[in-house]
Amino acid sequence: MPLVPSYIKKLSSYKPGKPIEEVKRELGISNIIKLASNENPLGPSPKAINAIESNIHNFHRYPDASGYDLRKKLAKNFNVKIDNVVIGAGSEGIMSTIMRTFLLNDDQLIGSENSFIGFKVLANSSGRLTNWVPMKDSRYDLDGMAKKINDYTKIIYIANPDNPMGTFVTKDEFDEFYSYVPPRALIILDEAYFEFAKNIPEYPDSMHYRYNNVITLRSFSKAYGLGGLRIGYGFAHHDLISNLMKVKVPFEPSIPAQIAGCAALEDLDFLKRTVKANQDSLQYLQNEFGKLGVLFLPSAANFITTIWESEDEARNIVNKLMEAGIIVRHLKSFGWPNYIRISTGLKEENKRLISQLKIIL
Ligand SMILES: Cc1ncc(COP(=O)(O)O)c(C=O)c1O
Repeated sequence: MPLVPSYIKKLSSYKPGKPIEEVKRELGISNIIKLASNENPLGPSPKAINAIESNIHNFHRYPDASGYDLRKKLAKNFNVKIDNVVIGAGSEGIMSTIMRTFLLNDDQLIGSENSFIGFKVLANSSGRLTNWVPMKDSRYDLDGMAKKINDYTKIIYIANPDNPMGTFVTKDEFDEFYSYVPPRALIILDEAYFEFAKNIPEYPDSMHYRYNNVITLRSFSKAYGLGGLRIGYGFAHHDLISNLMKVKVPFEPSIPAQIAGCAALEDLDFLKRTVKANQDSLQYLQNEFGKLGVLFLPSAANFITTIWESEDEARNIVNKLMEAGIIVRHLKSFGWPNYIRISTGLKEENKRLISQLKIIL
């Protein structure tokens, strides 16, 4: 028997967006802006920063393994019981716990092809068969996914809105899809970008789907600016949550992550500013892309995915922007060689991107 399972050997490691420091080193330029990883351009929630600063002296202690304070707060905020709430090291951390908790020998998964790469990594490293269903018109093909449901289906993953497309599944589409899902199959509704999408009338708030086989995942990484701390949360039936709590890495999330999460939930002013700034940025960028004749997908998240004629053209644009100190994300490694994803930035960052694009084009 080989030491490393073949399904692990076959994986290629995840390549994140280039860090600012790396570009500085490689190109010898300063004044770099990063519009590549869907981070919050306003920085972290100020209340979260304050809370961490005033708790630094407790960091020699282990965290509360039950995450009581943060789970209690989330339960209150979202009008559920604490037994319906799980927290983890980012929503990806919870996704990993879900895989380890529920997958049995012959179980299979269903996902959308070339959707969120984090799920792809976890699904492929589970060693189980995943049925990848191609998107239709840059959107999840829920009909196609429903057709793939079989006696072995255990986990179905839906990123809503999707990354990297920025498109979303509507209420009607989800309701119809749900009618085909048997109770023994678990649906993960990944709402990492919920706060940016929630005011769109057709967007389904999965808190209205408190079915026994639906897990909602949300994140502090985007709207609250806490990506580097690794803190996310989820809601589900208490039976699912109690089993997740048994399997989760006991002391995740860390103390600063839990403290920051509690404080961020109270930072309504920051949340409001974040959502407004994102709305303004989306509008500005979409307008400017329109004027420049750049094709793009209307976005329900904090990034816009642009479409180019060829892989060469996309790579050329990415490289030229990089030389000018602007990091954006070529989506080749996501399976979309002609696409470039651009995260919304501060006003002046968006402007700099557009003037640079004008020069390049
Ligand atoms: C769809 C989606 N889900 C989850 C995540 C990861 O969130 P977290 O930082 O909470 O693990 C991302 C981050 O890019 C994402 O795009």
